[in-house]
Amino acid sequence: MPRTIRTLHPGFLAAGFALIVASSLAATSGRQTAAEAVRIDADDIGGVVTGPKGPEAGVWVIAETTGLPTRFVKIVVTDDRGRYVLPDLPKADYDVWVRGYGLVDSPKTKTAPGKIVNLTAVVAPNPRAAAEIYPAGYWLSLLAPPGKNEFPGTGPSGNGIAPNIRSQAEWLRNIKSGGCTACHQLGTKGTREIPKALGTFDSSIAAWDRRIQSGQAGADMVRTINGLGRDRALKQLADWTSNAMSSSPNGTGRTQRRICTTKSLPIAAIPH
Ligand code: HEC
Repeated sequence: MPRTIRTLHPGFLAAGFALIVASSLAATSGRQTAAEAVRIDADDIGGVVTGPKGPEAGVWVIAETTGLPTRFVKIVVTDDRGRYVLPDLPKADYDVWVRGYGLVDSPKTKTAPGKIVNLTAVVAPNPRAAAEIYPAGYWLSLLAPPGKNEFPGTGPSGNGIAPNIRSQAEWLRNIKSGGCTACHQLGTKGTREIPKALGTFDSSIAAWDRRIQSGQAGADMVRTINGLGRDRALKQLADWTSNAMSSSPNGTGRTQRRICTTKSLPIAAIPH
């Protein structure tokens, strides 16, 4: 930082040093000072998020209320010193909590605008628990397509892949942009977990066969599955939810959280 300031007017230089001194003081004297450094108005909630290793950078802080005419949620990301400000909140009581890569959701704190609320990030006990909040695309990436050498498909009496699906890329395109994902994401909690309310089934394949018939778009979903080759598409989906997902997902943690301070990743930050 001094290198870029050097060419500027000496007054800027002094101001630059003052800033550096102020920020290093705040960093060393810990949470209390950092919390004081968070400035909020009467309609903001702000504070510092701390984890086991100190201030947590790049974690989401979520404020949610059902006290307005519609449910209202505001989400921000902490800065390098773990600070956050949820600005300009309509007057209501809020639940505020922390979500992030490598974490499980922290307990919800009840609060209201105008308050400084310091929060504690909760490290996930295992990668599976941490992955609960990963974006749908992460979960979809665990879906294995049939092998490249299985195309073109040989139909119901062969490998169950439709003969007019000529390559693995075409199979994937049908899942991603041409078929399923043209209507909705795959990998969201609602699509990656088979709800108990759907009933009990002999196999995961049977459960998938039933669930894609759900709702007003059931016929469209069946048509898409048939286009891929029903037997094999159901098998790949069943393998996805019963096998691929129950194995341990890759660990993700502090590094990913830090990335989030500079890039706002499209994490599934909507509470569920
Ligand atoms: C024409 C649009 C459309 C297409 C194409 C489509 N879906 Fe859906 N899907 C929907 C809608 C709408 C719902 C919500 C249904 C309801 O009312 O419950 C849904 C629900 C689902 C559900 C949740 C069902 C439940 O209640 O458990 C799954 C899983 C699902 N879709 C998978 C797929 C797969 C896999 C494909 C591709 C083979 C696909 N969908 C293609 C529109 C579509």
